[in-house]
Amino acid sequence: MGWFRKKTTAPALAVLPRHIAVVMDGNGRWATGRGLPRTAGHKAGAKVFENICRYANSIGVETMTFYAFSTENWKRPKEEVDTLMKLFGDYLKQADQFQKEQIRIRFVGDPAPLSEELRQLMKHAEDSSAHFTGLTVNLAINYGGRDELVHAFRKIAAKAKEEGLAPEAITEQTVSEHLYADTCGDVDLFIRPGGEHRISNFLLWQAAYSEIYFCDTLWPDFTSKDLDEAIGWYSGRQRRFGGI
Ligand code: FPP
Repeated sequence: MGWFRKKTTAPALAVLPRHIAVVMDGNGRWATGRGLPRTAGHKAGAKVFENICRYANSIGVETMTFYAFSTENWKRPKEEVDTLMKLFGDYLKQADQFQKEQIRIRFVGDPAPLSEELRQLMKHAEDSSAHFTGLTVNLAINYGGRDELVHAFRKIAAKAKEEGLAPEAITEQTVSEHLYADTCGDVDLFIRPGGEHRISNFLLWQAAYSEIYFCDTLWPDFTSKDLDEAIGWYSGRQRRFGGI
């Protein structure tokens, strides 16, 4: 199910996915290929993230979820982690500008290990954009799909203990309701640029029936035309959800 597109260069009858997830991969290779430090790739990737949000908003996509920092990314050199955290902070400091475009921002992931300053900025961005009516951007920071499920199961187990929730009363909806954000439901189109063919622990629950699109473009080179191509490809898919 989808909407017909507006204001886009993709084929006019392309079906618009409601929820698009993106693994922003290839920043490091983009930078080293240019003789630059990996952090330059993340800086370029952050600009692309903003451009793609703006474009998706302009064509009427409802929700986009971006993999910005995984639970495994802490293993990277401190300088790279610090740069990423600074990029998130810098982006959120301009949160008041989202008003112009009505882009709503939410977060998925475990905020506990993030700095107090970043958590405050996240809260401010979330609160001040809550009523906006444009694209919803879910930013995945310190996110892991398995970690999200473990968090959900812990909350459900606590409820079972405290409120006597019966095992047979636990349904798929119960699990969905205990995931990180209620704006991050089923993903229609899952895009992985950067040439790798894996989902890397991103949105394991929500991507159960996603159409998965891989392309070789490195994330800092990804443009609105690449998004159009992915949407055009999605339009040609037959989604059967296990039926025939
Ligand atoms: C994976 O590519 C990318 C990341 C771990 C970080 C993605 C984050 C950004 C693009 C910044 C987003 C900024 C904001 C403001 C939301 P990689 O570096 O592992 O690529 P490689 O496989 O080429 O090494």
